[in-house]
Amino acid sequence: MTIDKKYIDQFINVTTKAAIASSHLVGKKNKISADQAAVDAMRSELNKIDMTGEIVIGEGALDEAPMLFTGEILGKKSGPEFDIAVDPLEGTNFAANNLPGALSVIAVAEKGNLFKAPETYMHKIATTKVEKGLIDLDFSVKKNIENLAEFKNTTPSNLTACILDRPRHKKIIDDLANLKVKIKLISDGDVAGALLVTKPIYNVDIFLGIGGGPEGVLAAAALDAYECHFQGKFIFDNEKNISDAKKMGITELDKKYELKDIVKGDAIFCATAITNTLNLKGVTKEANKIFNTETLVTFSALSNYNQEIIKNRIIF
Ligand code: FBP
Repeated sequence: MTIDKKYIDQFINVTTKAAIASSHLVGKKNKISADQAAVDAMRSELNKIDMTGEIVIGEGALDEAPMLFTGEILGKKSGPEFDIAVDPLEGTNFAANNLPGALSVIAVAEKGNLFKAPETYMHKIATTKVEKGLIDLDFSVKKNIENLAEFKNTTPSNLTACILDRPRHKKIIDDLANLKVKIKLISDGDVAGALLVTKPIYNVDIFLGIGGGPEGVLAAAALDAYECHFQGKFIFDNEKNISDAKKMGITELDKKYELKDIVKGDAIFCATAITNTLNLKGVTKEANKIFNTETLVTFSALSNYNQEIIKNRIIF
């Protein structure tokens, strides 16, 4: 069983409308309202779809987020049951400051097939497809880099590692520098950061470090379609997120998850660029009510639909 491909266009429409709504607030220095615009549009479009969709990764819990909260049920409540992970505006700083990197993102799978997680941090590692056991979150940076260099028949100094520029990553960054690995520091946006390992044109060999757990689940949905390697370990380090995790049925709090533990079966992933991101052009306005958008879509169930950029000209 997999999701019917007829839903692909409908989910492309969801991130497209959210991206357009948020684009009106690009550069307005207000990340909350740019996010809210994307949330409102995404919710309204999701409610038009023939499905019973449960938000498993959302904007937080009901008490923190009145809309698109984890556990919210959306859709016309007819048709198939889906699990939905959303990040209506990934890269709120990018949108607020009119910088490249803002995306509207969704991942959808059949019910029970996407990991339901509270909003916590996650240790992540992603590379292109590698032999099993070669790259592992539990290995040292040195071991992972040397293994990857050997696998790629090159030296560590020819590899590029992408990592969020955060003080918490000082040790990893120092280790990479000592190994003479080229470092690509990103200020935000680790969904797109992780996706840089998917294609040689991005020139990134490994993505690693700690970022948002929800962003990890979303990235995993796309990495699956590219047959990439991904592992994630949630960080439950305070009473609130430990109790949230337990409520969601997570019993092993320090478990290392393989990609297929996070995304079972086939998932549809759509990311529409709000500002230029990856090889996607951000939303542009052609004339009154006419917008051009570009969306990266992956769906592992369809071999010829694995990776595609959809250009849309939308009038509304
Ligand atoms: P927002 O879009 O919510 O601002 O998140 C941006 C982001 O950079 C994510 O891509 C990343 O996973 C997370 O923030 C990292 O969190 P922090 O800024 O706390 O290190």
